[in-house]
Amino acid sequence: MRARAALTIGAVASLALGAAIAVPNIASASATLGQHAAARGKYFGSATDNPELTDAPYVSILSSEFNQITPGNTMKWQFTEPQQGQFSYGQADTVVSLARSNNQSVRGHTLVWHSQYPGWVDSVPASQLLGVMRNHVTNVAGHFQGQVIHWDVVNEAFEENGTRRQSVFQRNIGDSYIAEAFRAARAADPTAKLYYNDYNIEGIGAKSDAVYAMVQQFKAQGVPIDGVGMQAHLILGQVPSSMQQNIQRFAALGVDVAITELDIRMNLPRDTTKDTQQANDYRAVVNACLAVTRCVGITVWDYTDKYSWIPSVFPGQGAALPYDENLNKKPAYTAIHDALAGTTTPTTPPPTGNGGCTATYRIVSQWTGGFQADVTVRNTGTSAMSAWAVRWAFGAGQTVTNVWNGVVSSSGANVTVRNAAYNGTIPANGTTSFGFLGSWTGSNPVPASITCA
Ligand code: G3I
Repeated sequence: MRARAALTIGAVASLALGAAIAVPNIASASATLGQHAAARGKYFGSATDNPELTDAPYVSILSSEFNQITPGNTMKWQFTEPQQGQFSYGQADTVVSLARSNNQSVRGHTLVWHSQYPGWVDSVPASQLLGVMRNHVTNVAGHFQGQVIHWDVVNEAFEENGTRRQSVFQRNIGDSYIAEAFRAARAADPTAKLYYNDYNIEGIGAKSDAVYAMVQQFKAQGVPIDGVGMQAHLILGQVPSSMQQNIQRFAALGVDVAITELDIRMNLPRDTTKDTQQANDYRAVVNACLAVTRCVGITVWDYTDKYSWIPSVFPGQGAALPYDENLNKKPAYTAIHDALAGTTTPTTPPPTGNGGCTATYRIVSQWTGGFQADVTVRNTGTSAMSAWAVRWAFGAGQTVTNVWNGVVSSSGANVTVRNAAYNGTIPANGTTSFGFLGSWTGSNPVPASITCA
């Protein structure tokens, strides 16, 4: 099994966005990840696998929380053409019909891959493999025609240094096999968006440069490619700092980008520090996607640690997903939720007793270069408070330009807003709020934490 090396990436470049991003006001903080993503014009999905579908509590969350599903295994060659010319779709059809009954879109994964194909493919004479590959793509993409929004047409064709992986397809067909697979997929399903999918291409580096060059060449030659899938099997604390810039450069070539297999693994056991880091990492990935219009959605590679592939492949590592093994939400879930919703939930436990308060930050609307936000201040104490101060640090160079119902002081990224003369008094369990206009370039993530005193 492949090791996923950490990437060391240089500084993030600031990128001006070409188009305004509207951030709709989602009334319910308890809306699902899928609903919040849809309100931002994107999907938030999960992989699943057929054996898990007997687990009713698991299926209940899979069916309600996400608006997209990827079959983690059963569309692969091993399952769909186990013997040459004999196609088998029962298991994949089960996942597709579950998704359809839940109004979820489906990503097709995957048509041509160096792994999880049946042994007979290795015995096909080299001169016949192109025909065999085309036949496979034609049958599988044809069977699911109209039922999948994307196909991962070719998966993991590059090595870390940017050279082509010497798979059976590369060795026996040559460089042209990728373009040929895309052409066959387009002919079989003209409605699905066709993706190249790989890992360790989330940041800028030799491997993503090679994929970039291929996409550029395909665009110039009229090869039908619509998207690039960045798998994003990431390591705790190692979200590439150039991720947003990388997504942006692919978008600028005229292809969509999807985050297709997101998980963020840690050395076990979990602890609070690691969970907090993981939440920050998930938030960073979601914000990188939200900042680029052509980043169309994010899929976690299953949603619960109960069914993650990580522990079996990386012994001693795991806890990579936003739900734990008992299907409870982890801090990563809250971070994803709040990033999609454009809010910050207080990260410190609400103080009890006299004098405590919490603050909740919400982006009301956003346009190129500017945004409006409001902050709700809640007195969590048992008696009235007469003054309050809310503090946060911007994470991406934003500035406050105008505040109402509060008095602002800023120092670099650090912002403090105190009550105005008329709204310092808040009764026990009461709320007040202030609003502000701000400016941003590149991205406008909600602050990672916000405090009230
Ligand atoms: O099908 C056999 C079954 O007959 C047997 O009883 C069982 C016993 O272990 O194994 C089954 O095969 C397993 C297969 O998943 C289907 O469940 C393999 O052992 C297992 O290694 C395989 O793992 C999958 C892995 O791809 C293979 O590389 C993971 O579930 C799947 O999540 C993973 O997904 C890949 C993406 O497709 C591409 N990107 C990387 C990602 C993680 O490796």
